Amino acid sequence: MTTTDATNHQVRLAARPTGTPTPDVWAHTEEPVAEPGEGQLVVRVSHISLDPAMRGWMDDRPSYVPPVGLNEVMRALGAGEVVASSHPDFPVGTHVSGMFGVQEYALSDGRGLLAVDPSAAPMSTYLAALGMTGMTAYFGLFDVGAAKQGDTVLVSGAAGAVGTMVGQLAKIRGCRVVGIAGGAAKCALLTDELGFDAALDYREEGLARRLREATPDGVQVFFDNVGGEVLDAGLTRISRGARVVLCGAISQYNSRERVAGPTNYLSLLVNRARMEGFIVFDFADRYAEAAAEIAGWLREGRLRSKEDVVTGSVADFPATLLRLFRGENVGKLVLQIA
Ligand SMILES: NC(=O)c1ccc[n+]([C@@H]2O[C@H](COP(=O)([O-])OP(=O)(O)OC[C@H]3O[C@@H](n4cnc5c(N)ncnc54)[C@H](OP(=O)(O)O)[C@@H]3O)[C@@H](O)[C@H]2O)c1
Repeated sequence: MTTTDATNHQVRLAARPTGTPTPDVWAHTEEPVAEPGEGQLVVRVSHISLDPAMRGWMDDRPSYVPPVGLNEVMRALGAGEVVASSHPDFPVGTHVSGMFGVQEYALSDGRGLLAVDPSAAPMSTYLAALGMTGMTAYFGLFDVGAAKQGDTVLVSGAAGAVGTMVGQLAKIRGCRVVGIAGGAAKCALLTDELGFDAALDYREEGLARRLREATPDGVQVFFDNVGGEVLDAGLTRISRGARVVLCGAISQYNSRERVAGPTNYLSLLVNRARMEGFIVFDFADRYAEAAAEIAGWLREGRLRSKEDVVTGSVADFPATLLRLFRGENVGKLVLQIA
């Protein structure tokens, strides 16, 4: 295909948000699709990953990656098909995942791209169980959390992308799994469909009491995606030598106040416990190992890639992103470009 006659619709960061991103922080732009130069290729993006971390990338403050610059195409992981190529490793027709941004076509020099097989799994799964989400759950639980058979694993944000994976991986390892999620329907999904031993609705009264009842032997691994009050509640249940995995703190990302730190942190001291943050990118050299193991469990039917695929255009990205912060997604939220 020649790409010169196609138009690339994009979503750019036009202003930095305060609190929850409003429509005016985005600019919708279009430009001709670039022709690939020597060693370059063009991907037609079919799936865009929506991640809570995007909110942090929009702020102008130091983090594990530089902020998205003003008027830059919004950073996003995605998946798609190579439609023009002067790159020896990625000929036209290759399916790939990579950091393509919120746009319909991405020009790439091949760095950071992974070839994927759409006949082995749906493209959305390469952003879910077989993508960054799966890697986060795998390395956070098994490496940082050192989960082992017989442990009680508590996971917050349990019905989300990472949480649904963490709970299922912990069951595969032989752990007892308790999830915390918002609403009765999500809790029922965790226990009835995904094999969690118990699920607690954090929006209902009496979380501390219900957590006590659900974890009679304490918690050996607490995988926290939420922060704030939920982190605090979980800290009251950790046992001696527990590992608290700081994966994320979605309850704090849109806050206009100072981040609420844990008031129950002395539980770490009393229990000689460890609380450790991690960034999945640090495990990049082991992604292939994790993906092969996860793919095996998917094939065997021991693991489900729970996905929430919204079909639309790149213009739907801003509204779709907000679903994460309203708790409207179940599993991995993906925007499929119609
Ligand atoms: N460290 C890393 O390398 C890494 C990599 C990927 C993701 N993460 C982090 O992992 C966490 C989960 O990410 P994900 O991609 O799996 O997203 P996700 O869980 O699918 O994200 C959305 C869910 O978060 C919950 N939520 C939203 N606002 C909340 C609040 N105020 N209090 C409690 N829960 C709230 C909602 O579920 P409810 O209905 O249950 O409220 C919502 O469905 C995020 O914090 C993310 O930043 C970290």
